[in-house]
Parts: sequence; C-alpha cells; structure tokens
Amino acid sequence: MNKFKFFKENKVRVYEILLIVVAVLCIYFYKINLDYRAQNLSVINESNLLKKNLDEINQKYVDIVNKIEVTEQDKIYLYNSLNGVLSDYSGLMKDYDTKLKEVGTLSKAVYYDDELLKKYSKYYFLNENYTPSSTVLINPAYTLNNKEVNILTEVKPKLESMIFAASSSDVKIIVHSGYRSFAEQKGLKSAYTRTYGITKSNQFSADQGYSEHQLGTTVDITDGKSGLSISFDKTKTFEWLQNNAHKYGFILSYNKNNVYYQYEPWHWRYVGVELATYMHDNNLNFYDIDQNKIDEYKTKIFD
Ligand code: DAL
Ligand code: ZN
Repeated sequence: MNKFKFFKENKVRVYEILLIVVAVLCIYFYKINLDYRAQNLSVINESNLLKKNLDEINQKYVDIVNKIEVTEQDKIYLYNSLNGVLSDYSGLMKDYDTKLKEVGTLSKAVYYDDELLKKYSKYYFLNENYTPSSTVLINPAYTLNNKEVNILTEVKPKLESMIFAASSSDVKIIVHSGYRSFAEQKGLKSAYTRTYGITKSNQFSADQGYSEHQLGTTVDITDGKSGLSISFDKTKTFEWLQNNAHKYGFILSYNKNNVYYQYEPWHWRYVGVELATYMHDNNLNFYDIDQNKIDEYKTKIFD
C-alpha cells in the first residue's frame, strides 16, 4: 500500500519522469531515423551517379559500335569490290595458264633461242653441237622433186602459209633446200671447194658453223625453172617474195650489195613478221642493222 501511497503523493513527478523518458526515446528514434534517411539518400545519390556513369559508358559504346558497323551500302560496295578482285584474279590465272601453254607448245629452247636472230656470216659461229630444238618435214608438194626438206617446227606454218598465199596469186614457190646440220654443211662446202676451188666456193657457200641453214629457219627458193641462179630475180616468184615475204616473216639475207657472199635472190631467212616488216618498210638489209636493234625482236619472233 505504501507503494501506491508514494505514487499518489508523487503523481505529478512520476508523469514528468515518464514524459521525459518518452521524449528522450522519441528524440533517440528520430535521430536514428534521420541518420538512416541520410544514409539512404547518400546511397541513392551514389547509385544515381553510378547509373549516370554507366549510361554515359553505354552511350559511348553504342556510338563506337555504330561507327564500326557497316551500312548496307558498305556491304554492297565491299561485296562488289571482292567480286572485282576475284574476277581480276581469275583473269590473271587464265593469262598465266595461256602463257604456260605457249611455253609448253614452243619448246623453251626455241622460245628463248638467242641464236635465231644472230648474224652468222662471219660474225657469229654455231658449233657442231648446235641443232634446232625440233625440225619437221615441209609438205613434199612444196619441195623440188618432192624431196625431203626439213625446217624448224615453228617456221613450217609460216612458210606453208606463204607458199599457199603465193599460189592463190598464181605464183609458184618451190623449196629447194632448208635445214642443214653442221656436218651436212661441212660436206657440201668441201664438195663445192673441190669443184670450184676455195675462192669461188667462199663466194656462195658458208663454212660449217656459219650458215643460216643450220638454224632451220632458212630456205632456198626456186620457181621450178630458174634454179638457184641470179636470174631468179627476174621471175614473178621473186617479185612476189619481195612484196610479200615480210608478211610471213621472211627476208632476203644476201642482197646485191652485201659484203659477205654473192647476191643470193633465192636465199630467204625467217626472222619473224615484226622484224621483217620493219626491214621491208624501211628498206633495210639484215646484215646492215645493229645486232642490238635486231635482238629487240627476238622474243617476238614467232608472234
Ligand atoms: N649460201 C649461203 C651463204 C650458205 O651456204 O649458207
Ligand atoms: Zn641458202
């Protein structure tokens, strides 16, 4: 009962104390709440900042990707360019293939044969081992008494085209002789020397190694009547050859004023259409042209 008495007597004081306690508690919790909100705000701010940074980074990424990404037009352009490159490549491969076939057809020895355009009359010498890369028989219908006459394989179609063209103009070209080996030339020269003596035979017959006939590119031509004589230059055949032989790559080696042999209107050498035409158009003789100039034509000899 004493307890209650105390409360009754101190009623106001108790309420005051209680009120103070409640106020302190309220202040405490309010403070906690304030701190919490402050913390919360700071986190929100930080996260906003972070998001802003992330957004900026993302935007930069998108910009970069947009810059790298090819447009449809770019794709078409690249596709066409690629096709162009592929087509160029395939064109080049075809050219390469054609060249390989050409090299295969003409034997390399002939294609790059430096000897074919050299001046053999006293300047250059072909030794006994030199033989043309390959020779074939000329159609016997075109040779004197249908005898066997050989010629460099690549020259045969040029010669036969020339003979055919002449016959179309009613001009007869008959091949008297063609390729002669070193040994054959040696035998022939010896025979001429025995018959005519060395001085005379030197005027119309080359020593072995110095004859253009050893190249396989050279033929002696007749009309079937005049034989191998100077009077051949009065024939229709000779006139036709003078006007047309260059179109088939042939030239007259020993003209009237040459210093090596007597005039040989029957002796025609294949040097290629381009060089023969150049000589014809400029009225030049083979042995008067500088060897360096002649050599410019060596790669085109079978064009
Ligand atoms: N008749 C020419 C010069 C030769 O023998 O080659
Ligand atoms: Zn000859």
